[in-house]
Amino acid sequence: MGKIILTGDRPTGKLHIGHYVGSLRRRVELQNSGEFDEIYILIADAQALTDNWDNPEKVRQNIINVALDYLAVGLDPNRVHFVVQSAVPELTELTFYYANLVTVARLERNPTVKTELGMRGFGDSIPVGFFTYPISQAADITAFKATTVPAGEDQEPMIEQAREIVRKFNSIYGETLVEPVISLPENRACLRLPGTDGKEKMSKSLGNCIYLSEEPKDIKKKVMSMYTDPGHLRIEDPGKIEGNTVFTYLDAFAKPEHFEEFWPEYKNLDEVKDHYRRGGLGDVKVKKFLNNVLQETLEPIRNKRKEYEKDIAYVYEILKQGTEAGEKKAAQTLSEVKDHMKINYFEDKQLIEDQQKMFDEELAKEGRNNR
Ligand code: TRP
Repeated sequence: MGKIILTGDRPTGKLHIGHYVGSLRRRVELQNSGEFDEIYILIADAQALTDNWDNPEKVRQNIINVALDYLAVGLDPNRVHFVVQSAVPELTELTFYYANLVTVARLERNPTVKTELGMRGFGDSIPVGFFTYPISQAADITAFKATTVPAGEDQEPMIEQAREIVRKFNSIYGETLVEPVISLPENRACLRLPGTDGKEKMSKSLGNCIYLSEEPKDIKKKVMSMYTDPGHLRIEDPGKIEGNTVFTYLDAFAKPEHFEEFWPEYKNLDEVKDHYRRGGLGDVKVKKFLNNVLQETLEPIRNKRKEYEKDIAYVYEILKQGTEAGEKKAAQTLSEVKDHMKINYFEDKQLIEDQQKMFDEELAKEGRNNR
């Protein structure tokens, strides 16, 4: 059996550098590793509608933004199928059957659902669609027979729930679905990149994001006003690394060659951290280095995006072809699922024959008894 990747994003805005270190960078590495037979990346518009049902225009406008960001970071349409979720009705059908295997209590216990419900303040008016989206996400993953899901830490409970559905399905209906594993980013900083204000998560509504397509002057402005150690008032004061956003970003982005190029006084990040802890290293110097690192990382991404922006019709063509390939795969899985669930009445020739035999025997028995 081949190795298959499936992952995805909700198209509710442009992607930011948190998405990049949390998942996009890994996807490109996995793509280039040559280890995978098939790669599907889902633009999860149907899932986005579970909490944006009243704002379909937002989802509609952001499908292209997410697609452009994918292409900009180096995901290659010759190797990756970009799939638009709502155009694959098989996913909805699978969701409906999987719903039989999941209890309300289990969904209530899903930590991601719990946090998100709290954040959105639905109160007593939780929409069924939103509440059940982990089931739909299990359909996304299993429809493509994914073995590997590169995603951020926040998606772990979703993958776990998908694994449970797979085990339950296979134990009831026979071996059909594949149990996926999550592929997490390499270090803690990448697991959850904080916002530029030091808040736990980057989010558009908080205005604390740096987008992949951000212009150089805006990157600089955001970096220079970033949250650091509020106790580090004078340069001579000892500074704290923990919770210092500038250092968290450096953990996620700085590579050895960045020191050679921009800050040869230090060999690596550990030396910078030591100096900062001791005192005598000012925030501005560290921020300038981070700015250089981010500028160098984001420039090629921004430029590549601008190239694709010149031909939007071509990007939609890429999406259309990816979606067609995705639907083919999902249809194959759905057909196996329906076979194993015994809801394939018109495809199963044996069914009619067997039932005819049964009725014939009954009729014959009645005939004998009435004689
Ligand atoms: N829930 C993911 C997010 O909010 C998006 C997503 C939808 C996804 N389907 C998926 C991720 C399947 C991984 C696998 O970003």
